[in-house]
Amino acid sequence: MDHQELKSMHEEFFPVKYSDSFYTDSCRKIGIHKGFLHTCIIEVDNVIVGFVFAQFLPLHDNEDSCIIGSDSGAKEILYILTLGCKSEYRRFGLSSILIGNVIEYGNTNKYCGAVYLHVIHYNQAAIKFYEKNNFRYFQSIDNFYTISNMHYKAYLYVYYLHDYHAPLHKTILFQTQQTLSIGFKIIYNLLELIRPTSILHIFGFTANRVTNNDHNHNHKNDKIVQNV
Ligand SMILES: CC(C)(COP(=O)(O)OP(=O)(O)OC[C@H]1O[C@@H](n2cnc3c(N)ncnc32)[C@H](O)[C@@H]1OP(=O)(O)O)[C@@H](O)C(=O)NCCC(=O)NCCS
Repeated sequence: MDHQELKSMHEEFFPVKYSDSFYTDSCRKIGIHKGFLHTCIIEVDNVIVGFVFAQFLPLHDNEDSCIIGSDSGAKEILYILTLGCKSEYRRFGLSSILIGNVIEYGNTNKYCGAVYLHVIHYNQAAIKFYEKNNFRYFQSIDNFYTISNMHYKAYLYVYYLHDYHAPLHKTILFQTQQTLSIGFKIIYNLLELIRPTSILHIFGFTANRVTNNDHNHNHKNDKIVQNV
């Protein structure tokens, strides 16, 4: 991996500034606290067009340990440090391949409870991307990023591995959200189903009659106008 290539992509994609040592270490697969950094890159004609960096972090002493239920038995969580794809290669599913690679990597560790990441709150493309890839919104963290002396909140997204799960109160919330969303989808689909047949048909029929009436009425008016 080329240090300069990675640096220019990070500078283009992310508002956060990374130190030079971040790039030097990343090229040598060294991550946070000198831990092993998992990297996956996609190249086209020997040029990097997409990358992801992720690292197993111990669950204890982790400020995001709240994402896993304390009774779950998980010992680690897999953190996505950065992920990105060159703009001209976006919407071709390349980043979905990268995220799939990270999930696969997480699954090799039976003590890893989840893959997770932070995303700045206004990055709608990334939010949609993670949701499409079945990551779940977990919480919002105020003032997580400081960029040019401005504070921005982060959203934490999580993908549970193996049979690990969120703490009980979150699990109940997730299940309620899921039930509601399924309920809304069923209602929406039912409405879609009956719309073209009965409802529109009835309205169509009524509209025809109104049109005909109007038609007759106009003729009447025409006559009146002619009479005058
Ligand atoms: C977010 C990002 C990684 C997505 O990469 P990508 O290669 O385009 O992703 P994919 O092609 O795998 O997209 C899969 C899905 O993500 C969603 N998505 C991706 N970009 C989107 C956009 N601009 N608007 C809305 N949805 C988007 C869509 O649901 C898309 O599926 P679709 O194309 O069938 O609609 C890319 O835009 C990027 O590199 N952004 C800059 C870096 C960044 O923000 N990284 C994440 C920081 S946490």
